[in-house]
Amino acid sequence: MLRPGLEGVPVTQSAICDIDGNQGELNYRGYPIAELAAKSSFLETTFLLIWGELPSASQLRDFEEAIQMHRRLSFRVRDMMKCFPASGHPMDALQSSAASLGLFYSRRAIDDPEYIYDAVVRLIAKIPTMVAAFQLIRKGEDPIRPRDDLPYSANFLYMLTEKEPDPLAARVFDRCLILHAEHSLNASTFSARVTASTLTDPYAVIASAVGTLAGPLHGGANEDVIAMLEEINSPDKAKAYLERAITKKTKIMGFGHREYKVKDPRATLLQSFAEDLFARFGTDEMYNVAKAVENEASPLLGPKGIYPNVDFYSGLVYRKLGIPRDLFTPIFAISRVAGWLAHWREQLSANRIFRPTQIYTGAKTRTWVALDERAKN
Ligand code: SDX
Repeated sequence: MLRPGLEGVPVTQSAICDIDGNQGELNYRGYPIAELAAKSSFLETTFLLIWGELPSASQLRDFEEAIQMHRRLSFRVRDMMKCFPASGHPMDALQSSAASLGLFYSRRAIDDPEYIYDAVVRLIAKIPTMVAAFQLIRKGEDPIRPRDDLPYSANFLYMLTEKEPDPLAARVFDRCLILHAEHSLNASTFSARVTASTLTDPYAVIASAVGTLAGPLHGGANEDVIAMLEEINSPDKAKAYLERAITKKTKIMGFGHREYKVKDPRATLLQSFAEDLFARFGTDEMYNVAKAVENEASPLLGPKGIYPNVDFYSGLVYRKLGIPRDLFTPIFAISRVAGWLAHWREQLSANRIFRPTQIYTGAKTRTWVALDERAKN
C-alpha cells in the first residue's frame, strides 16, 4: 500500500536514538537529551552515538586528540573552495567540500574498524573547518588555521569570527551541537543510510546527507524562521500573519514535525540557551516576536498537533552568537554528522541495499511512431 513519504513505515531496526512524539521525549542510546545537553560535551555525545557507550576517560582523550590532529584542510580543498562563487550558499560549498574528501581518502575498507575510526575522525574534525573556511573565503580572506589549544566548539567559533569566544558562548554552542546531533530516520539520515547501503565511501554518504539537510522542509527551516520573524517584526502582528498564512495554506517555518505531536523538546532547551545568552549579552526583540508566534499559533495549529520544532528557536541562539543566517544550516550539519556516521556504521553492521518498489501509473505498452507521422503541434 502506498505510504507517501514513508510515513509510519519502519525501514530498518536501530539502537541509536528513540523518540516519543506524543510525550515529547528524545533519548540518544538511552540517555535523555536534557541530561546530555546539561552534562556531556558534543564530542563525548558523538562517541556515544557512534560506538554506543559513553567513552572512558582515555577513550575520550584519544578521540579528542585525534580530532584535534585532523582539523586542518589540505591546501587543495582550500584552493578548491576559493573557486566557489562567493554568492553560493554555504550548504552547497559544504556538500562539495565534504564530497571532495573522497578524492583524498579513496580507499574503501568499510569492513576495517581502523578505516571506519579514521573516517569518523576526519569528518567530525574537518566539517567545522570547511564551514568556517568558506565564511572567510567568501569575504575574500584566507581561512584561519584551527587552534590546537581550543576545544572543539571554541575552535569553530574562533575560526569563524577570528576571536576567541566567551566561555558561555562556546558552552551554549556546544550544547546546541549536542541537541542537533541525531534524530532517528529524518530525511537526511535516511539519505545517509540509503547511500551507505550501496557500500560507497563515507564521504559520499555524508555528501548525500548534507544535500538532503539543505532543504527548507528539513534543516533549511532555521534560516527561514528568522526571515519570517523579521517579516512579522512585532509581537502584535503575529496573529494576523499566522491567520493569513493558514488561509493561504503556507507552512509556518519552524513548526510541525512528522514525529512530534507536541512541542519538540529541543525547542524548549534551545529557548533556555537563548535566554542564558540574553541574560549575559542583552536580549533580542525577535525573541518576543517568536514567543508571540508560538502563543498565537497554539490555538490555531495545536489542535492539529503542530507545535514549534527544533528549528524554531535555534536561529535566535546562533544570531545572538553573531553567526550569519545562512550558516545556521551548515551548523546543523556540523552537528548531524555525528548521527549520520552512527547510522552509517549501523547500516554496515546489517546491510541490505535499499530498493523499495512503486505503484506504476504511467502509460501502457505503446509502439514507437516515426517523426513525420507524429501530431504536428
Ligand atoms: C527538521 O524528521 C526529523 O526528525 C527532522 C528534524 C531532525 O532533527 O532531523 O527534526 C529537523 O527538519 C525539523 C522540521 C523543519 N521544517 C520546518 O519547520 C518546515 C515546516 N514544517 C513542515 O513543512 C512540516 O511540518 C514537516 C515537513 C516538518 C513535516 O511534514 P509532514 O509530516 O509531511 O506533514 P504534512 O506536510 O503532511 O502536514 C500535515 C498537515 C497538513 O495539513 P492538511 O493538508 O492535512 O490540512 O499539517 C499541516 C499541513 O498543511 N502542517 C502545517 C505545518 N506543518 C504541517 N501547517 C502550517 N505550518 C506548518 N509548519
